[in-house]
Amino acid sequence: MTIERPTIAPEELDTLDLADPRLHAESDLSAVWRHLREREPVHWNPAAGSAPGFWVVTRHADVTSVYRDSTRFTSEGGNVLETLLAGGDSASGRMLAITDGDRHTGLRRILMSAFTSRALAPIVESVRRTVNRLLRDAIEKGSCDFAADVAAGIPLGAICDLLGVPDRDRDHLLSLTSSALGSHDADSTAADAWIAKSEILLYFANLARDRRGSGHSDVIALLAGSSVGGLPLDDDEVILNCYSLILGGDETARLSMVGAALALLNHPDQWQALKRGETGIDTAVEEILRWTTPALHSGRTATSDTVVGGHPVSAGDIVTVWNASANQDEQVFDTPGHLRLNRTPNKHVTFAYGPHFCLGAYLARAEIGAVLTGLRDTVAEMEQTGPTRPVYSNFLSGISTLPLALKPA
Ligand code: HEM
Repeated sequence: MTIERPTIAPEELDTLDLADPRLHAESDLSAVWRHLREREPVHWNPAAGSAPGFWVVTRHADVTSVYRDSTRFTSEGGNVLETLLAGGDSASGRMLAITDGDRHTGLRRILMSAFTSRALAPIVESVRRTVNRLLRDAIEKGSCDFAADVAAGIPLGAICDLLGVPDRDRDHLLSLTSSALGSHDADSTAADAWIAKSEILLYFANLARDRRGSGHSDVIALLAGSSVGGLPLDDDEVILNCYSLILGGDETARLSMVGAALALLNHPDQWQALKRGETGIDTAVEEILRWTTPALHSGRTATSDTVVGGHPVSAGDIVTVWNASANQDEQVFDTPGHLRLNRTPNKHVTFAYGPHFCLGAYLARAEIGAVLTGLRDTVAEMEQTGPTRPVYSNFLSGISTLPLALKPA
């Protein structure tokens, strides 16, 4: 994504800690990723303070091979640096993204039934209506913060529809998810994130209690009425999996939509090509997903001594795969540093790959597609009216503020 930030030279690699949120928020790492793909595709990020070191995998081929193999590379020790470096995730074996083997297959099968194109049709329809309403309001006002006034209202609304969350609670949940995963503030602490996560869990605990046996048709009721391996899901499993939908599907999708608007603003030729209908929405959505890559990395733990990209890795080592780098791999993408909305094929790993491939990919694509369609059909010109603000995170990438003036078509 084009955000003006100082470029970090590969010579500085030895001084970098790739777990540092400031590094990702405040600098351009594309030269570092290129250097690593070419020279050191499986790089060791040394221990920092009490946090252990970890492997950094940067080539597309190696990233997909780690993703594909959940036997050699488990998610059960955590699937992001934050939990892996802290020694694990207490929801392991119970929350879909950090469960492997038969239990993962069983849980995923239950949730998949709520994420088919057929099951999602009414939610996608409601997403389109919401996008058109928010864009109309933003155009009428003349200026907006595209992040807060447009993008923020879309994915959380869809997830709340899926979960049957009452309207009155939605703003509260939005502010909690921002604090729990990413951060809009360089000084936000791990304690703030922990408090926000606890509040989300408590909220779902109360909602799940109300929904058990209530006859509702939402995902909470679906989970509460399901069994894996012959045993009904307990309250914790219901709550944790609701929580994982909101954390996995809200800010990621928001950041890709804000990134889409910024990308069109910075690439007037591509904006005009979209407006003239020279590029299809579905193809454009894939390039926006590659370009924005809202989830920078995923993490795994090696279950045995093994090899990644020809490099030995020991049992118990933390292995991180960097979508941000794989999506720029010259071996897979022609001119990866150029935004080309009509790029095909487009084998990006923005939604990961293999057994943990994003459950919400269809919904996220529909949301981004609705935003691109809305911008194309209702906006003539976009102008940036103020500075952007980056998200401070080693996992999420993008901007949390994008002041824009939108002129009607
Ligand atoms: C998994 C990214 C939207 C729910 C994942 C993974 C990635 C990802 C990279 C794999 C994590 C891993 O392998 O450890 C994204 C991005 C999105 C997005 C970039 C938006 C642009 C959504 C939405 C939902 C969702 C809208 C649901 C409402 C999930 C779930 C998993 C997952 C439940 C776990 C799947 C499993 O482990 O089997 N996502 N996601 N995501 N995502 Fe998404």
